[in-house]
Amino acid sequence: MSKKNIAVLVSGGGTNLQSLLDCQEKGMFGESRITAVISSKEGVFALERAKRHGVPGFVLPRKSYPDIASYSKALADLLEEQKADLVVLAGFLTIFDEQVFLRFPYRILNIHPALIPSFCGKGYYGLHVHEAALKKGVKISGATVHFVTPECDAGPIVLQKAVAVLDDDTPETLQRRIMEQAEWKILPEAVRLFCEDRITVKNGRTYIDNDKGESL
Ligand code: GRF
Repeated sequence: MSKKNIAVLVSGGGTNLQSLLDCQEKGMFGESRITAVISSKEGVFALERAKRHGVPGFVLPRKSYPDIASYSKALADLLEEQKADLVVLAGFLTIFDEQVFLRFPYRILNIHPALIPSFCGKGYYGLHVHEAALKKGVKISGATVHFVTPECDAGPIVLQKAVAVLDDDTPETLQRRIMEQAEWKILPEAVRLFCEDRITVKNGRTYIDNDKGESL
């Protein structure tokens, strides 16, 4: 197991970043470290969380770049400068193009707050995901960690966890339960598996080497 540099990309409150920082402090990632937090917005609380844990924060606003291609190049350049081995999208809301994927193939993880392939793809972000799940009346939703590929929310799935939908749920209560019961658990778990070189991708699927540790 090698020591990896982890860059976490955020746009908001950063509760998933917080769970990663807490798990790192408990030793879950071995020698690997969160070495950079990159935000697409100024002043978000995720940057404050990074600061409190002594992790360098960077701001890369989309509006400072004329188009998605130049933004994507700047993002990939910054990730390379920071020597990122793993990139984690933890509530990163800015679209980038395939050059980032091509420069970090199967090294970018995303957390999506539903069981992919349900309620995913263009337009399914934030509370919209939970609104759609409630409108459909599903009894179970959850979260998915997957590798990022050029097609939105379509990369190989690494981990999923189901969460019950309750009759009196609002998008906000469902969002919170999915975060607490699924996202804050499976995102650090997927980062740990990656850091321990236990994830293999073959023909669009992932395979987890379970010989080296306990499962979820
Ligand atoms: C989470 O629900 C995540 O699944 C989604 O964006 C939200 C980010 O929340 N991609 P936070 O900034 O980690 O609190």
